[in-house]
Amino acid sequence: MEKKVLISRHEIQSKVKDLARQISSDYAGKEPVLIGILNGVVFFFADLVMSLSIPSKIDFIRASSYGSNKASSGMIKLVKDVEIPVKGQDLIVVDDIVDTGLTLNYLVKNLKSREPASVKICVLIDKTERREQEVAIDYRGFKVQEGFLVGYGLDYAEQYRYLPDICVLKG
Ligand code: PRP
Repeated sequence: MEKKVLISRHEIQSKVKDLARQISSDYAGKEPVLIGILNGVVFFFADLVMSLSIPSKIDFIRASSYGSNKASSGMIKLVKDVEIPVKGQDLIVVDDIVDTGLTLNYLVKNLKSREPASVKICVLIDKTERREQEVAIDYRGFKVQEGFLVGYGLDYAEQYRYLPDICVLKG
């Protein structure tokens, strides 16, 4: 399928540095736990965590949709939990993209029920066209209206995650 670069690797890296500066400043003197939502987040997560100038801990969580259509069914389940106890911790939930908002809302609600000290949300791409549930994003990389995006962790049927740029797929 034809691909067109939407956000170059240079723009991504520059934005990651900006986000890391903001987070490092906001959490000065603290040691937040960054929780990545698998799988697509891995490249962004690694770049972000290594760009922080404060100490942090990391862990991962994974949700999966069930039913044939996530956007209309809204049924999400936890398939891999964090291993670090989150009670009393400052959490930053990190995802590569928020689309309908269902995944992040489900996971944040789940994590908040465990009495962390605080929970903030960091997302590289805020894709707005299909939003069903509002998500209070604290650290946003790029806002994109629409398009099927691949690369830098984003996939189409598990393909293209390895691309260093974020591209739009043209059917
Ligand atoms: C993608 C993405 C987000 C979620 C966003 O993950 O990484 O976690 O979908 O969609 P939503 O806002 O509509 O819930 P996906 O479940 O496709 O798994 P992946 O990260 O392994 O690609």
